[in-house]
Amino acid sequence: MPDRNPLPPARIAPSILSADFARLGEEVRDVVAAGADWIHFDVMDNHYVPNLTIGPMVCAAIRPHVQVPIDVHLMVEPVDALIPEFAKAGANLITFHPEASRHVDRTLSLIRDHGCQAGLVFNPATPLAWMDHVMDKLDLVLLMSVNPGFGGQSFLPSTLAKLRDARHRIDAWARVGGQPIALEIDGGVKIDNIAQIRAAGADTFVAGSAIFGKPDYKTVIDAMREQIALAETLSA
Ligand code: DX5
Ligand code: ZN
Repeated sequence: MPDRNPLPPARIAPSILSADFARLGEEVRDVVAAGADWIHFDVMDNHYVPNLTIGPMVCAAIRPHVQVPIDVHLMVEPVDALIPEFAKAGANLITFHPEASRHVDRTLSLIRDHGCQAGLVFNPATPLAWMDHVMDKLDLVLLMSVNPGFGGQSFLPSTLAKLRDARHRIDAWARVGGQPIALEIDGGVKIDNIAQIRAAGADTFVAGSAIFGKPDYKTVIDAMREQIALAETLSA
């Protein structure tokens, strides 16, 4: 039996951390018009990470501007109190860092009970073993390819081996009848490294500065998709 299932279609999830916050409605509309599949929404609390960003009020404010899923990445501690708030604000997916929750299984259930898809986020040094006993409660696994807290950092190459490991676990789970689990990568994703990230098994690509730092979002997203297609041809 092959040890790899066909890769799910790729999704691009621009991170609004690098958008112009003074024009956020326009920014999310523009990036969706340019081909974004999800909006990645980075929540930082100046406690779990050394930076402070945006919360449920801003999520509710952008919600009417786009139809695509809003992917809320919680870099906060504690986690649970914000889940109902983000669900109410229109989040579709909510991920959190397992170190930041006392009861990981309970937090995953809480997210799903509020009608959202649930996921765990792994820092570069966080072992994938956190997945082991909650596979049935995961819709999404997010691997950080930088240390969380800031946009514009460089991709850590050690993430590629970790991605292959995560892909292997998710495929093995699907082969025994488990639900699909998306595999997302976040940090330092650019046009020139996205092909090798795809080849290592990612299906969802967060990119902040690579997209919002450029004048034409569509040119960047199209180039990313071309690179992804190239990786698929090479590994087919
Ligand atoms: C970092 C955030 C990322 C960040 C990615 O903690 O989780 O989503 O915005 O930004 P780039 O793509 O610039 O590395
Ligand atoms: Zn993020």
